[in-house]
Amino acid sequence: MFGPTPTLKLAPGESIGEHLASQGVSRRDFLAFCRDTAIVLGLAEAAAPQVAHALETQKRPSVIWLELQECTGCVESITRSNDPTIGSLVLDLVSLDYSDTLMAAAGHQAEKGKDDAMKAGGYVLIVTGSVPLNEGGVYTMVAGRTAKEILEEAAKGAAAVIALGACAHWGSVQAAKPNPTGAVGVREIIKDKPVINIAGCPPVPDVITATVVHFLTFGKLPKADSEGRPLFAYGARIHDQCPRRGHFDAGQFVENFDDKGAREGWCLYQVGCKGPQTFSPCPIFMWNEKTSWPIGAGHPCIGCTEPHFWDTMAPFYKRLPDVGGWGIEQSVDRIGATLAGLTVAGVAAHATWTAVDKMRRKRELPVVTNPGAGPRPQPGGEA
Ligand code: SF4
Ligand code: SF4
Ligand code: F3S
Repeated sequence: MFGPTPTLKLAPGESIGEHLASQGVSRRDFLAFCRDTAIVLGLAEAAAPQVAHALETQKRPSVIWLELQECTGCVESITRSNDPTIGSLVLDLVSLDYSDTLMAAAGHQAEKGKDDAMKAGGYVLIVTGSVPLNEGGVYTMVAGRTAKEILEEAAKGAAAVIALGACAHWGSVQAAKPNPTGAVGVREIIKDKPVINIAGCPPVPDVITATVVHFLTFGKLPKADSEGRPLFAYGARIHDQCPRRGHFDAGQFVENFDDKGAREGWCLYQVGCKGPQTFSPCPIFMWNEKTSWPIGAGHPCIGCTEPHFWDTMAPFYKRLPDVGGWGIEQSVDRIGATLAGLTVAGVAAHATWTAVDKMRRKRELPVVTNPGAGPRPQPGGEA
C-alpha cells in the first residue's frame, strides 16, 4: 500500500506493467491479479487481458487525497498490509501528489505539489472525512482554508471523485446527533459530477484497489447503486455471505457475549447484528491479509456501510426489529426502505447475484450444520 513503500515511483515514461516486473512481480502473478480483479469487478474472466493491457500500458495516474474531518482510520485500513500485494503495488504506483498523512512533503512544498497536480488536471480525487459547515467551516482548516473550500477547488479538475469511508459519504460519527460541526458528506458539496462511495468505517482496502483498477482500465468509475456504492462490491448483504448464517437458519443465537453461543461462533442477530440490512463485501475481502472482520471476531456488524450510519444504526447492541423469520430475504425491501432509506430500485439492484457472491462460493465458506436439537428460537422474538 501507500504506507510501507512511499518512495516507490515509476521512472519517467515507465508503465505500471514495466514497473511491476522491475519489482519482481512475475507475469503469472500479475495475470492472476488481473483475472481476480476482473471477477471482483463483475466482469467475465475473459476480461482479464483487457485489465492487464490497461495496467501494462498505463502511465502514472495522478491522485490527490484530501483528509478532511476524520479519524485517519480509513488511511490506516488502506495501509495496514504487512506484505505488499500486487493490488497494493498498483495503488503504490499511482502518483500520490498530495496526502496529509502519507506524503513526505510538508508546508508550502506540499501545497505546491497539490497545486501542480490541479493545474495538470485529470487526476483522481480521493476524499476521506466529512465537511463541517457550521461556524463558517472553522472545525477543519488546512493552510488557512476550510474543508469546503479545499474540496470544491480540488473537485473542479478531477476526472473522478472517490469518497472513501462513511465520514465522506454521510458524515458518519461527526454527523451523529446533534451534529455540532454541521458535518456533511462529499455529495452534499460536489453535485456537478459523480462521486463514488467506497462505503465503510473504515472501508475494505480491496474495494478501493478494484475501483482504481476499473478507472485505469475503462477510464470511468464502476456502476453504482443509488447511494453511489459500487455494485461489484456492495451488491450483496452481509447476512447472505456470512459464515454464521447456518446458525441463524438453525436458530442458534448468541444471547450474551460470554455465553456458550458466543464461544461457539453462533449468530449475533440477538445481540444487535445489522448484517441483515447491510450491504458490504466484508466477509469476502476482510482485513489484515484476509484474516479478520468484525463478525469473524465475534462482534455484531453495526452497519457501517449503510446510509447515514451512525444514527440509523444506533443503538448498536439492540437487535433489528421485526426482521422476520426464516427466509429473511423476503423482507429486505421493507427493511431497506424503512431503516436504511434505500430506494426500491436500489434494493432491486442489490438483489442480483454479484461477482462477489461468486467469490464467496468459490471460497467454500464453511457449512454450519444444524444439530437439530430442540425447537428453534424465533429471531423475531423479544430481545
Ligand atoms: Fe474514521 Fe470511520 Fe471516518 Fe474512516 S469513516 S475516517 S474510519 S470515522
Ligand atoms: Fe451473520 Fe449477523 Fe446474519 Fe447472524 S445476523 S448470520 S451474525 S450477518
Ligand atoms: Fe462495517 Fe459490518 Fe463490515 S460493521 S466493517 S459493514 S461487518
